[in-house]
Amino acid sequence: MTNTADCVATVVDPKAHAEPARLYDAYAWLRRNEPLARAELPGFDPFHVVTRHADILEISRDNTLFPYGSYPSTLAPHLAVENGRAARAAGRPLLYTLVQMDEPDHMKYRALTQGWFMPQNLRRLEARVRELARDAVARMEELGGQCDFVNEVALHYPLRVIMEILGVPREDEPRMLQLTQELFGATDPDLRRRSEDETPEARQRAMQATLADFFNYFNQLTEARRAKPQDDVASVIANASIDGNQISAFDAVSYYLIIATAGHDTTSSSTAGALWALAERPAELAKVKANPELIPGLVDESIRWTTPVRHFMRSVSQDTEVAGRPVKKDDWFMLCYPSGNRDETVFDDPLEFRVDRSPNRHLAFGYGAHLCLGQHLAKMEMRILWEELLPRLRSVELAGAAQLSEANFVNGPKKLPIRYELA
Ligand code: HEM
Repeated sequence: MTNTADCVATVVDPKAHAEPARLYDAYAWLRRNEPLARAELPGFDPFHVVTRHADILEISRDNTLFPYGSYPSTLAPHLAVENGRAARAAGRPLLYTLVQMDEPDHMKYRALTQGWFMPQNLRRLEARVRELARDAVARMEELGGQCDFVNEVALHYPLRVIMEILGVPREDEPRMLQLTQELFGATDPDLRRRSEDETPEARQRAMQATLADFFNYFNQLTEARRAKPQDDVASVIANASIDGNQISAFDAVSYYLIIATAGHDTTSSSTAGALWALAERPAELAKVKANPELIPGLVDESIRWTTPVRHFMRSVSQDTEVAGRPVKKDDWFMLCYPSGNRDETVFDDPLEFRVDRSPNRHLAFGYGAHLCLGQHLAKMEMRILWEELLPRLRSVELAGAAQLSEANFVNGPKKLPIRYELA
C-alpha cells in the first residue's frame, strides 16, 4: 500500500480486520509516512487516524484535553453523530456508559464498581474462576481431540465468569452471548442480526432491536436487584447513588450493558487468538509448557497480538498539536490500538508472537482515565485457563481454516478448528 487514502480506507474497512496482513501493512505505512492521517470518507465527519504508540498514549493520557466531547466513542456515520447530539440535547441519550462519559461523571460512575475489579477483590473469586477453567478443559476432553475452539470453548468460559460476577443466571447466558455478537459483529455477515434487507436503514433497525432486547432484559434485572440485593455487581449498580441521588434505571441498564458485553467477547478473542498462534508455533508452545513462569507473559502477548478492541475515538477541547501537527478544537481522532501494538519503535519484531516478550508495553487495554476496568479480571481468567490447560496439552494444530470477524471495533477469531491431544 502506497498512499494515505488507500491505507485509511483499509483501516476502517471491517473486512480488512479479517485479513491481518493487509491491515498491518496499512498501519505500518501510516506510521511511517502519515502518523496523523486525515480521513475524509463519504457519510462520515472528517477525522484523524492516529497510528503511533506514542501519539495514542499522549491522547489517552489527558481526557480533559482529549475528551469524547460531542462525538460518539466509536466510529459512527455523520447521521448517527447528529442523532446522538440531538438525543443528548433533549436529555435522552441513546446510551450512557463509561465510554460515553467525560468528567466529572466518568470518575463518579467508574468508582461505583472499580473495587469489584481490583486484584484484592479478584483474589476472592480466583477459586471459582479456576473451577470454570477446569470445566472448559473438561469440555475439550469431552469433545474428543477436535473442535471449533472459538464456538465450543473460548466463548463460553469468560462469558460464565462475567455473568456470575454481574449476576445473570446461567440459563440466560446464550441470550447474552447472542446479543453481544450481534452488537460487536454488526458488520459481519455471520454474526449480525438478520435484517429484512441489506440497506443501511434496515441494518440500523436491526442494531436498535438488539439494544432494545438488552434494555428490556436489564430493566428486569434492575428491578429484581432493587427489590432484593445480592452479592453481585448488578446489585451494586442498581442501588448506587451519584451525588446523593439513586442512579436512574437507564443509567443502571447502560452500565450493565458495557460490563455484559466488554466483559467476555474481548477475553475470548485473546484466548482463542493465542491458541491459534501457539498451534502455528510449536516452539513457542514448547517454551511456555516447559517454563510455566512464562504464562503471565503469554497472556500479555496474547492481548497485544490479538488487540481485540481495534479503536476508540476521542475529540479535543482546544487547539493544540498532535504528532507535531496542529489540530483544531473539536477535531475527531481514531486511536488505532493494533497499530500502536505493532509499532516497531516500541516492540522488537512486532510481527512475531513471542511468549517471552519483555517488556510488553501494549496498548490493548487503552490508557489513562478510561483504562480498561476489567484488565485484571481478563488477565486472571487467561492465566488460570493456561495454568489448567498447558500441563495437559500434548499437542495442538489447526484442523481447517481459522477466520477473524469482519469488524473494525471489537474483533476476534469467529472460527478456529483445531486438533489436539490432552494428557
Ligand atoms: C482482553 C480483554 C479486554 C480488552 C482487550 C479490553 C479493552 C478495553 C479498552 C481498549 C478499553 C478502552 C480504554 C480507553 O479508552 O483508554 C476498555 C474499557 C473498558 N473495559 Fe475492557 N477490555 C477487556 C476486558 C474487559 C473485561 C473482562 C471487562 C469486565 C468488566 C471490561 C470492561 C471494561 C469497561 C467497563 C471499560 C470502560 C472503562 C472506562 O471508560 O472507564 N473489559 N477495555
